[in-house]
Amino acid sequence: MKLLLLGFGTVGQGLAELLINKETELRKGYGLDIQVVGISDMLKGSLHNPKGIDLRAALDLAKAGKMISELPGAFDGDALAMIEQCEADMMVEATYTDIKTGEPATSHIRTALEKGMHVTTTNKGPTALYFQELNDLARSQGVEFLYEGTVMSGSPMLNLARETLAACTISEVKGILNGTTNYILTRMEEGMGYEDALKRAQELGYAEAVPDADVLGWDALAKVTIIANAMFGVKAKPDDFPCQGITEITAEAIADAKARGKRYKLIGKVWREGNLVKASVAPEEVDLSHPLAGVMGGTNAITFTTDILGDVTIVGPGAGRAETGYSALMDIIHAGGKR
Ligand code: HSE
Repeated sequence: MKLLLLGFGTVGQGLAELLINKETELRKGYGLDIQVVGISDMLKGSLHNPKGIDLRAALDLAKAGKMISELPGAFDGDALAMIEQCEADMMVEATYTDIKTGEPATSHIRTALEKGMHVTTTNKGPTALYFQELNDLARSQGVEFLYEGTVMSGSPMLNLARETLAACTISEVKGILNGTTNYILTRMEEGMGYEDALKRAQELGYAEAVPDADVLGWDALAKVTIIANAMFGVKAKPDDFPCQGITEITAEAIADAKARGKRYKLIGKVWREGNLVKASVAPEEVDLSHPLAGVMGGTNAITFTTDILGDVTIVGPGAGRAETGYSALMDIIHAGGKR
């Protein structure tokens, strides 16, 4: 399989490391012989090498703060030019997320699908804003549009619901979908101030470039919208659902909730009400006995309420280099692996 990587930041590099470290397992376990033939990055430069890029050399250069375009196959054009010229079977879209416009990632994904490439993305903007359009386009082209990493990074969530919960009717999905806000609420309960906790979440790499997207709930809203479309079959956009972040929650309110056996969590949920599908993002006082109450720091979690199994809760990372890179690898195996 020939891969094109758009974005060689945390996610792109995390995936590249996994492709190197898991090469034998991918070949033996799934018949996948993967070559990266293109890398396009706005800051680190671009490479196009139909014979396969030396990933370890590209990683070494990126880690040393150097341009990857020092390697053979330096490419001068932008990401769209790269998609047009690069003969790849699958594109990994891991450029920066713009939750409000979805660009430029949406244009990248459209162009690749139109060219007949499978696409996996970790980018929440295009997936939440243009879910139906991109899925319809992929279907009409006979290729896969996959987005496991948009919710809970590599923790199995969307694939799990689609494959292993396939025969269950899911009436509600409710979770902690944003690591930054969960980290802030956890530290505030321990006595740290809001600003210090946010700064620490930024240092740990959980927060978005503009952390408003986290603390005002927009990041969780994008994820809730993806869940509503993917698992509940509605044609919904983020603006269809109410959204409230954590900026109004005081240290006093957190302490008061704790004294009553509750804990504040920013909860994203999607549920059925009669024939309607509803969704929201808002802080909730969760009972300490609920599995979500014990999920602390940057960790994410989600509870599926099903007719056959009752509640099933998945707890795992929601961000990170290897963790998000892994989600793309999961999608690559899904699109091209032979089991
Ligand atoms: N800013 C996001 C979070 C990153 O804090 O969860 C992962 O989507």
